[in-house]
Amino acid sequence: MIRKKTKIFFVCGTDTGVGKTFVTGALIASLNKMGIRAGGFKPLESGCRKHQRHLRRADSLFLKKMGKMPEPLDLINPYYFEEALAPGVAAERKKTKISFELITKKLEELKKKYNCLFVEGAGGLLVPLSGKKTNLDLIKKLKTPVILVARLGLGTLNHTLLTLDHLKRNHVSVIGVILNQTTPSKTVAEKTNPAVLKKRGAPILGIVPYQGKPENIRPISKQLVLGRL
Ligand SMILES: Nc1ncnc2c1ncn2[C@@H]1O[C@H](COP(=O)(O)OP(=O)(O)O)[C@@H](O)[C@H]1O
Ligand SMILES: [Mg+2]
Repeated sequence: MIRKKTKIFFVCGTDTGVGKTFVTGALIASLNKMGIRAGGFKPLESGCRKHQRHLRRADSLFLKKMGKMPEPLDLINPYYFEEALAPGVAAERKKTKISFELITKKLEELKKKYNCLFVEGAGGLLVPLSGKKTNLDLIKKLKTPVILVARLGLGTLNHTLLTLDHLKRNHVSVIGVILNQTTPSKTVAEKTNPAVLKKRGAPILGIVPYQGKPENIRPISKQLVLGRL
């Protein structure tokens, strides 16, 4: 049954390649396994490779697959670009206008069918999306709390604390940080990241371990999924 008020979360990364899609997919799959109808929304995807004369929207397709979402891909992903650039830059080069109104409308449409929706942002918080507008402006427009995904490793302390600080200054509600292990190796930085971040007040939701290929994705722990969401 679809609950009256759909919970919507914005999954923001500390950077590109930190595992937003992977973690979002895992969250969606885990919630569905628990009987909560969850889906994904990727308003802007760039870096779509040409595949048989079409552009392959890998992230959007992955979210659709993980949520077993029957909706057309254009509803799950209204804007996509071939160039691996910030969506705002890719759009300018293609002379495409990105409308936050249209994005909001598509999300409203998706909302009717889900208990829980995860909006995957593009890259980090201040990535340009449209003119001077960034992911932060989209978060404010959609009025969604943020789940921050950070990659375990060297450099993550600065990226994570800067992003949290900027969200706080802009009065955006933060559900917490998911630390994601994107490689099999475990360096000292990776081992020490969680405790150091906690000590500095970062609300750590949990750690997603390295899981090999996305096809082998394991459900995220019940505690992490149901605890704070
Ligand atoms: N926990 C993980 N275990 C294994 N591979 C991962 C994990 N997290 C991310 N990856 C891999 O790292 C790469 C970047 O992750 P992705 O989710 O695409 O990042 P983003 O969406 O932030 O750009 C992908 O190839 C993905 O499959
Ligand atoms: Mg992604």
